[in-house]
Amino acid sequence: MRDRSVLGGGAERIAQQHAKGKLTARERLDLLLDDGSFTELGAFVTARGADHDEAPLGDGVVTGFGRIDGRLVYVFSQDFTVFGGSLAEAHAEKICKVMDLAVRNGAPIIGLNDSGGARIQEGVRSLGGYAEVFLRNVLASGVVPQLSAILGPCAGGAVYSPALTDFIAMVRDTSYLFVTGPEVTRTVTHEEVTLDELGGADVHARRSGVAHFESADEPACLALLRALMGYLPSNNLDPAPRVPTDDPTDRADLALDTIIPAQKSKPYDMREVIRRVVDDGAMLEVHEGWAQNILCAFAHLDGQSVGVVAQQPLVLSGVLDINSSIKAARFVRFCDAFNLPLVTFVDVPGFLPGTAQEHGGIIRNGAKLLYAYAEATVPKLTVITRKAYGGAYDVMSSKHLRGDYNVAWPGAEIAVMGPEGAVNILHREELAAAPDPAARRQQLVAEYLVRSADPYVAASRGFLDDVIEPHETRSRLVAALRSLAGKRDTNPRKKHGNIPL
Ligand code: HXC
Repeated sequence: MRDRSVLGGGAERIAQQHAKGKLTARERLDLLLDDGSFTELGAFVTARGADHDEAPLGDGVVTGFGRIDGRLVYVFSQDFTVFGGSLAEAHAEKICKVMDLAVRNGAPIIGLNDSGGARIQEGVRSLGGYAEVFLRNVLASGVVPQLSAILGPCAGGAVYSPALTDFIAMVRDTSYLFVTGPEVTRTVTHEEVTLDELGGADVHARRSGVAHFESADEPACLALLRALMGYLPSNNLDPAPRVPTDDPTDRADLALDTIIPAQKSKPYDMREVIRRVVDDGAMLEVHEGWAQNILCAFAHLDGQSVGVVAQQPLVLSGVLDINSSIKAARFVRFCDAFNLPLVTFVDVPGFLPGTAQEHGGIIRNGAKLLYAYAEATVPKLTVITRKAYGGAYDVMSSKHLRGDYNVAWPGAEIAVMGPEGAVNILHREELAAAPDPAARRQQLVAEYLVRSADPYVAASRGFLDDVIEPHETRSRLVAALRSLAGKRDTNPRKKHGNIPL
């Protein structure tokens, strides 16, 4: 019998891995999973056509199942010490096996990626292996959560399996994602670029939006995946685990009554609003460093896991633009697929004007968020804190898109556009002829705010269910969420919709 204690590519390569600040495939699993819960599958698999007495056991990937906080997950962990973690036929088959088991048993799949891409020696067999994995990623999408950690230089085909999963977590300074590396880039485009500049964690967590999370080191990254699991159900049929809390559901937070600055153009931190409303002030932000004008976060409300989407007035006044629409649309669709109610805080001046946005496709991309909210059938709770102008009012989980509980704080403005713009269009001639245009404009703005933008106008039409005091937001949302516990809503039967991509 072969000795399974001979690990990966041997002691020397393990030492090299450690010297790079990286853990081995098995050390990572130890940190990810509950102590002693890992059961390995396929430890004796070797590369196709290889001499079984010589070839490294496992073919460069450790696969099996284990537990996170007692809940079943299926895992694969690529071993960079064996052929650079490159994916070959047998390697792919091992990954496919745990993916199939995960779907069959309704458990999440977590992939720890550290791979040089398709194993060059195996040619088309490795390409086929990748496609088998990709197919399973797609079929599992929306059935079980799929989480990816990038823990090394993931190149070529190694990027597309993570890209098809729900969440990607990267580690600063040691993990990279790129379709073609610096050398090919130099040859083709004559760009001189480092690994970090091309596809490091900072790039993907802040510029490309490919990565949802960025950690300082591997233990932090693996701890983050454990924390993320705490918000997620195991599959699309199960509820997310309830998290007991001592935070009173009727807790009134008087600080919310003064959080909106008296001066309307002044920003405030929407993160603080969310923290003051959700259980224990705790949330886990997704895409924290990218498209920061919108916040997407998991949190608990009354012990129930929810997805929070909110404008961030501190960044670009919380305007909707291409990236923020894409970011929130994907988050909304994830929450809807996995039965996580959506709580939306709205303070939106509209869509960002300008050629950069129009030419970049704000129409196509803004439509993604509209589509996602309209399609979502999970409970949808919406709080307009300050303003909801134009199409952005419609988009942000409005009553018209099947919002279940829509409320506004008393000072909120809801209108086709901001008061200054509206007055300029409606009263251009009158203002031009006025003896004191500035004074008249001020008067007209005040009238507009009362007559058209006042939240009671929307409430009188039933577009808002109520106008509430900010300090009662938590208790109102909890009551609404409880009322929606048995919500049943469906979309027309179809093969699938055609979200504008
Ligand atoms: C076979 C590979 C390999 C690969 C690395 N190795 N990548 N073996 N197939 N794809 C081997 C190396 O030969 C080396 O073996 C060991 O792994 C460690 O690699 P190093 O280069 O020494 O490590 P490092 O300096 O850290 O660089 C890592 C790396 C680099 C950046 C990933 O190895 C690299 O650029 N690899 C090739 C990446 C790539 O182009 N992959 C194919 C993409 S095409 P020895 O024995 O010498 O130590 C693709 C198509 C799929 O994936 C498309 C599907 C859509």
